[in-house]
Amino acid sequence: MSENAEDTVVTTPAKSEGATLTKDAAPGETLLKVTGLQKHFPIKKGLLQRQVGAVHAVDGLDFEVRSGETLGVVGESGCGKSTMGRLITRLLEPTGGTVEFEGRDITHLGVAGMRPMRRDVQMIFQDPYSSLNPRHTIGTIVGAPFRLQGVTPEGGIKKEVQRLLSVVGLNPEHYNRYPHEFSGGQRQRIGIARALALKPKLVVADEPVSALDVSIQAQVVNLLDDLQQELGLTYVIIAHDLSVVRHVSDRIAVMYLGKIVELADRESLYRAPMHPYTKALMSAVPIPDPRRKNAKSERILLKGDVPSPISPPSGCRFHTRCWKATEVCRTTEPKLVELRPGQQVACHHPENFEDQAPQDTVLLTAAKEAAELVADEVLAESAETSAAVAAEVAESDSGAESGSAAEGEAGQESTDK
Ligand SMILES: Nc1ncnc2c1ncn2[C@@H]1O[C@H](COP(=O)(O)OP(=O)(O)OP(=O)(O)O)[C@@H](O)[C@H]1O
Ligand code: SF4
Ligand SMILES: [Mg+2]
Repeated sequence: MSENAEDTVVTTPAKSEGATLTKDAAPGETLLKVTGLQKHFPIKKGLLQRQVGAVHAVDGLDFEVRSGETLGVVGESGCGKSTMGRLITRLLEPTGGTVEFEGRDITHLGVAGMRPMRRDVQMIFQDPYSSLNPRHTIGTIVGAPFRLQGVTPEGGIKKEVQRLLSVVGLNPEHYNRYPHEFSGGQRQRIGIARALALKPKLVVADEPVSALDVSIQAQVVNLLDDLQQELGLTYVIIAHDLSVVRHVSDRIAVMYLGKIVELADRESLYRAPMHPYTKALMSAVPIPDPRRKNAKSERILLKGDVPSPISPPSGCRFHTRCWKATEVCRTTEPKLVELRPGQQVACHHPENFEDQAPQDTVLLTAAKEAAELVADEVLAESAETSAAVAAEVAESDSGAESGSAAEGEAGQESTDK
């Protein structure tokens, strides 16, 4: 049996040769535009498989991704993040709405029409353990996109695959090894190399680090960041908490039950989040409005699970868990509107901003129990975790070598989250 690849892996990404992978992107221009995007999965029952309902996994998304930026997408489990990722990479057929890539409507392109597009848009998957075929060598896995597209890179597939392996910080000599010989962080690098093979313009990464240890998370996040600088990539990075996207995103979309509830540039979102759910995601939530609760600056944590996307709540979908919910929230869906420059929010009673429905002041009964007070120690602990991730990112950013040792030692990371 061959020696474990972890011992000899090179984790400092090699510089790509000049601008060989760089695309002619015009930074800041709209690369991807999504309008009214929907995906309803039918629920069928009985012998005749009659449709009895639908899972409203994605229910009307409007956003754009600009060339060269990183758009972070966050939200609790089941809110439709992966479905959104699969829709924009056209791995799923939308139920409604449109997807435009570089100004071209690709919503309903067939297999042949999508083939050239497949080169431009790539996806990195959440689980590096299941997303690599265990029976194939790394060379075969990373070289597969060339074979699928019928492309022969200059110098041949093997040479190009070896170059890609060094670009993502792996030893090119490990070309003939199998996935089980690599640690989780290394496998995710292999997934990244595969995604980069065809020099994509847009990379959609679905929870690229959530199966990895915190220290390895920082290295993979930094690798993605370095590759973006070097190759001019545009990212959509999906995560279920804000700590991962906070360090890499230019803008952040917060999703709840198939909808975007807030979309803002990173600074604004962290400085003054406007949607109550965004504040809840940050887990330390000061009660800001003296008219709605007693005036003390208490902190609260969201209670309860996300409701079923089969029959989402009326009006604002968050009203069953929101501590600010009033009657208007139950009856009228708030539209996603730009309340501050660069900050869109869908809420009748936003935080850090003028009330959009000031006449409606009576809280719903459920609102009074929608959140719980959080002890200072819990908040301190959560702040510590966040600071630890930030420190890891900063540290491995400044010294990739120390990171290399950490990854080697970590071996098989826990897949727990
Ligand atoms: N193929 C499918 N058929 C039916 N329902 C589906 C299908 N794929 C996803 N769903 C449902 O759509 C909703 C959104 O799922 P999705 O995987 O997009 O959520 P997510 O935000 O990525 O969650 P997680 O954080 O757990 O990955 C869920 O209720 C899920 O059960
Ligand atoms: S619209 Fe109402 S229920 Fe929805 S987030 Fe805003 S305050 Fe809460
Ligand atoms: Mg998912």
